[in-house]
Amino acid sequence: MNQRIIRYSLWLLIAGAVPACKTQAPSTTASTKVSQSQGVYQYRDEDPSVKPFFSDRVGVMGRNGMVASAHPEASQVGLNILKAGGNAVDAAVAVQFALAVVYPGAGNIGGGGFMVYRDQAGKAYTLDYREKAPGRATQNMYLDSLGNVIPGLSISGHLASGVPGSVDGMVEAHKRFGKLSWAQVLQPAVDLAAKGFALTERDALGLNRIKTDLLKINPGKTYFLKSAAPADTISWHKGDLLVQADLAKTLQRIQGQGRAGFYEGETARLLAQEMVQGKGLITEEDLKSYHATWREPIQAKYKEYNVITMPPTSSGGVALLQMMRFTEPYPLRKWGWNRDSTVQVMIEAERRVYADRAKFLGDPDFVKVPVSQLISPDYLRNRWTDFSWAKATDSRNVKGGMIPGYESLETTHFSVVDKEGNAVSITTTLNGGYGSRVVIGGAGFFMNNEMDDFSVKPGVPNMFGLIGNQANAIAPGKRMLSSMTPTILEKDGKLFMVVGTPGGSTIITSVYQTILNVIEHGMTMQQAVNALKFHHQWLPDKTTFENGAFSEATIQALQGRGYMLEKLTNTLGRMDCVLVRPDGTYEGASDPRADNTARGY
Ligand code: DON
Repeated sequence: MNQRIIRYSLWLLIAGAVPACKTQAPSTTASTKVSQSQGVYQYRDEDPSVKPFFSDRVGVMGRNGMVASAHPEASQVGLNILKAGGNAVDAAVAVQFALAVVYPGAGNIGGGGFMVYRDQAGKAYTLDYREKAPGRATQNMYLDSLGNVIPGLSISGHLASGVPGSVDGMVEAHKRFGKLSWAQVLQPAVDLAAKGFALTERDALGLNRIKTDLLKINPGKTYFLKSAAPADTISWHKGDLLVQADLAKTLQRIQGQGRAGFYEGETARLLAQEMVQGKGLITEEDLKSYHATWREPIQAKYKEYNVITMPPTSSGGVALLQMMRFTEPYPLRKWGWNRDSTVQVMIEAERRVYADRAKFLGDPDFVKVPVSQLISPDYLRNRWTDFSWAKATDSRNVKGGMIPGYESLETTHFSVVDKEGNAVSITTTLNGGYGSRVVIGGAGFFMNNEMDDFSVKPGVPNMFGLIGNQANAIAPGKRMLSSMTPTILEKDGKLFMVVGTPGGSTIITSVYQTILNVIEHGMTMQQAVNALKFHHQWLPDKTTFENGAFSEATIQALQGRGYMLEKLTNTLGRMDCVLVRPDGTYEGASDPRADNTARGY
């Protein structure tokens, strides 16, 4: 056994030493077979490893500012902006654009996202810059004449894209809260694109992996292809310089003209032209009429904490609060981290919450989403009445809850805190890694495949296995439902935690577990990020878990109660978080599962 595994086992042993609560049904040793993967979205692209993931990475400490993001170059850009006198929003805008250059798999200007912002005085804001369905989109656009879903159409190629929101989101955020000039916060991204940056090993692997699609969708016209050699020839290597001249010009237009540099003029023309060539739907008119939307944050208490999170169009905030409130009455701390009782109540919470997600959640500009009812204690109590310690609830018997009067009808996260305590939590996405794989000719950036986040047909799972209904049906100008959960926590009225992650449907459960790891299980921010995670999303009715997340005893006990468990060959989450420690220092925690890096000072 290597050193890491020994240390990890020690941690499990300590976690497992806490006695279980008396209300818990006795563990049994009966065992059911661990099921095979059923096509759940595999987030990790490298070879699955049989070894449990383990990291003893420690957090980065700082007093004056902290940036945690998916890429070291982007975190450095954010830190430089803070050091140059910029505030958290300036740094966040700079990081969003830097990620669009150095992290093309998910960082973007061709996608969208959500920002949760809490200023130093404690006032909170959220900005919805999620993509929208193009004006010519129709509810059944991904179905054939027999009403069946055409595989891949909402995932790959020009038809898969929604109208991008990232640039307008950043313009809005900066206009309202930025301190440095727009030109200054854009400059690092322009430089990275024009002069190039050295690929990390993971950057190179990512681009090599999509070579077939790049050759098919963008033949002969993109610098993301190092050579036109056959798809099975490795092209990119660690240390290669990726220069993105077209993207540099696009970023300069945005730098010089603000939103018009993207939604009008040359960039809009190139984007619309690309869509015509590839039979996509987005027009110059769609671009011109896109606007990000400020929304009232959802805020709710959990014990002594105040949770500030994203309202719909994300489902993440509502779902996170539902889960936290379902489990709040239970002594998780006493039971211990990932002990069977702890895991059981968390799985049952997750199951019920994802059923509600499928029934109720959609774009609030189009459907009425009963947010306050969904997180109300009375409603949640009712949803819990069929919980049993003896046996797993059967997802087939779980439907979305009843609300009187209700009519049915590759992502990345970064966290920034500045010297004054202004805090930004942003999750932004193209949806799948490198989105639709369409690169806008002449403008040099990837487009999203966010249309797959709509429910393309009621009850038919999307690429994350999520199902939905009328509330999330496609309509022109509508935003597709999201799981992204950028969140900020306060304790005693002060900034406490900035948290978020990519991971599709698993975003919400990873954020939930990371928060509980700190506030219930006493972990540091970095330990909470390092800790192994699990996931249940109602359907399919199984709990997936990172290899090593559960001890043998937990596995035996849960299987004995009828829980279907599936050990993942990939990992869950790529968290980037900041915790404010009691002495006021910031602990930056970045996910050791990838290139994520925290930088502080
Ligand atoms: O908005 C959503 O929920 C998805 N488009 C997020 C996709 C994602 O996290 C993929 N990357 N891991």
